[in-house]
Formats: sequence, C-alpha cells, structure tokens
Amino acid sequence: MDDAHLPDRSPVADVAAALQGKKVLLCVTGGIAAYKVAYVARGLAQSGADVRVIMTRSAERFVGAQTFASLTGNKVYTELFGEGPDVPHVELARGADLAIVAPATANSVAKMALGIADDLFSATLLTVRCPIVVAPAMHTEMWENAATQHNVHLLLERGVIVVGPVSGALSSGDEGPGRMVEPDEILGAAAEVLVRSQDLAGKRILVTAGGTQEPIDPVRFIGNRSSGLMGIEIARAAHERGAKVTLVIGPSNVPPPPGVDVIRVKTAQEMRDEVFELAGDADAIVKAAAVADWRSAEHADQKLKKAAGPPEIDLEPTPDILSELGHSGGIRKPTSILVGFAAETQPDAGALSALAEEKRAAKGADIIVANDVSSPDSGFEVPTNRAVIAGPDGVIDVGLVTKRALAKALVDRIAKLL
Ligand code: PMT
Repeated sequence: MDDAHLPDRSPVADVAAALQGKKVLLCVTGGIAAYKVAYVARGLAQSGADVRVIMTRSAERFVGAQTFASLTGNKVYTELFGEGPDVPHVELARGADLAIVAPATANSVAKMALGIADDLFSATLLTVRCPIVVAPAMHTEMWENAATQHNVHLLLERGVIVVGPVSGALSSGDEGPGRMVEPDEILGAAAEVLVRSQDLAGKRILVTAGGTQEPIDPVRFIGNRSSGLMGIEIARAAHERGAKVTLVIGPSNVPPPPGVDVIRVKTAQEMRDEVFELAGDADAIVKAAAVADWRSAEHADQKLKKAAGPPEIDLEPTPDILSELGHSGGIRKPTSILVGFAAETQPDAGALSALAEEKRAAKGADIIVANDVSSPDSGFEVPTNRAVIAGPDGVIDVGLVTKRALAKALVDRIAKLL
C-alpha cells in the first residue's frame, strides 16, 4: 500500500490510560494471526477496557473461544441469533467506543466493504457507530489483488483506520507483504483513535467545501473545478475527533462523510446565508470552498440563444464571506477560530508562506492554508495537495500529502488553538 493510502498516525504516550474504561469490540476472523490477537485481548483487558470478543467460525479453527473468555473475563460471542428476544449484534454494537478487527482476512475486509451482514461479526460491524480499527493479515497475493485493494480503499474512504499489514514471514513459509502488525501496534492504534475521537467532543465546527455556481441563464454558470474533496476531508477529520460538524457544500459528486450535517448550496450568496446562520454557534469555521469571486450582475430567465450572438455579461463581485467573518464583529463567537484557504499558483513553500501570511492579515483569519493549485498533483480535483498552514503560532510546511493527511494536520492545529 503506498503512502497516500496510509492514515497519519502519531503515537499516544499512555496507551493504558486511553483504553481505561472503554467498551471495545474485538472481532477475530479466521487467520493464523488469530493466536497473536490473544495478546491484544490481554493488553486491552489489562488496561481496564471492557472487552467483548466476537469470533467467526473460521477464527474458532485457529484459537479456542475459551482463550479469549479467560483473558477478558467475558463471554465470547459467535452466534448471530440469540435466545428469545435477544439481538446480539445490536446489543454488542450499541455503546461500543471502538471496534477492532484482527486479524482481518481478505474475506472479512470484503464483507465490511460491501456491507454484507451474514454472521455475527459482519452484522455487528454494520451496526456500530464507533471508530473501527482493522489489522489485515493474508497471503501476499490476496493482499495485492485488485479486489482487496479496492475494498481497503473503500474502508479508508469511510474513515476506517487500517494498520498494516507489514512485510514478513507468512504461514505458508513465504515472505512478503500480508503479515499482521504486532499486537502492541494494534493497541497503540486503538489508543490513538480513542484519544483523537474525543478531543473535539462538544465543539461545533462549520466547514465549507466545493465551488459555487453563479448563474448566467438557466443552464449556464460561472464556476470552477473544485470537487469538494478538501473540505469533505476536513469535515471527516473533525467528526472523527468528536466535533459536531456542519458541511456547507457547493455542487459536488464526492460523498460526504457519515455523521456530518450537510447543507447543499449553489451560489456564493446561498453559501453566505447558510454560513452566517450557523456562524454564531461555531467554535471553528473552515472556509475550504472555492467561492466564485464574480457573478453575472443579471441572469436571464430564459436560455440565451446562440443565434443572438455572444452575450455581454456585466460582472459584479460576490460577497467575500471569509473577509466579512474576519472583519465584522457580532457574526461569530469572539473565541472562535477562523480558517481560510488561499489558492495560489506557487509550488514553492517559501512563496506560499509569504502569501499565506499576507492573506491572513487581509482577511482577518486566524489560520490560512495556502495551497498550490498550479501543479497536476495539487489543488483542484486531485486527492493530494501541497500546502503550508500559517497560524498565530507560526507557519508549518506540510509538503505534498493526501488531502486526508492535510485535513488531519489542519484539525490538529485547530484543536490546539481551541
Ligand atoms: O475541492 P477540491 O477539488 O478538493 O480542491 C480544493 C481547493 C483547491 C478548492 C481548496 O484547497 C482551496 O484552495 N480552497 C479555496 C479556494 C479559493 O477560493 O481560494 P481564494 O484564494 O480565491 O480565496 C481565499 C479564501 O476566501 C478562501 O477561504 C475562500 O473560501 C474565501 N472566499 C473567497 C471568495 C469569496 N467571495 N468568499 C470567500 O469566502
């Protein structure tokens, strides 16, 4: 798996403290690495987590349920149907703080990606609302198969944390990518997700994304190439850390992350109206949208006829939403953090930093993310971005990273300021 698909991860100093008192679902599927997951179960239980283990039928061929029952002090769950009115998958899923799937076989990754729910493991994972950590383990050929890679991408897109696999000795005697990461790494990832999933709890974050479309006539508009992805990743990153997120988004085909309130708009004026309605309650406002700077002063009710010749279009400026938020008092909370973007045709980090600082002052923003929109791998429509983040505590050169990684770096910065 290339770097662009790996989530950014930074270790949590006190893993046990992060896991203490948490309800963790540990889903063990059928691979030889299942024996190592006994150490994960022990680590979780020793940290004070309440661990409920779900095993698939194949997993039971590798390790006995009694092992996990002894290590966790809890019954091990294997059956989709309970006795009487019990609905085990719903009961297990509700109230869980975290679900871990380890080892995650190619089959279990595929079931999760497709939303199949034909056993207790898959039905429970389709029901959970908590973060999910997946530790794949399989033969190299299965890992590298296009179907598995596609399924893993789907999981990543939905915010699932995938740790590993690593390269090493496999059960067949082969060597290569497909080996499950060590139990300590799974525990570290679990702790990190739990810490991250909470530090913005109780905060409201308003994010704008996508481009606006300013009508000329009923079918034509002034617009730009923004896909909405950058803002969507910011909304996802903030939501994953527990914030209540509202996304105000222009026309976009990228699916917004689950759990985020979405308001769809078309024009700069509509975006301004929605943002101003919500700004008073927001702890942070992030303006990743590419708002059109100009609109047609008038727009025709009927489609302009080609036969009438090229029309003369008078342009007028759209409202500058970021600048109004930055300079007019009373619209947003005085303590809120205002973040703007700067779309610049400059790949050089030094030049981007200077432009970011300039725009920060001009727009009255706390943070400006200046990104290069001149290179084919950065800016509009692509999954990666080259950017610097300028804030009151200095400028960070993030370099060329996935939009997801940039979003995480930005949300880290916002979390610190909040
Ligand atoms: O959507 P993607 O395909 O993922 O692409 C992401 C992106 C390149 C669009 C994004 O990363 C980005 O750079 N967004 C800001 C684009 C832009 O409008 O930049 P600007 O330098 O023209 O505007 C500066 C800031 O003012 C932005 O925060 C913008 O939202 C805001 N603005 C601009 C004009 C206006 N009328 N009102 C505004 O609020």
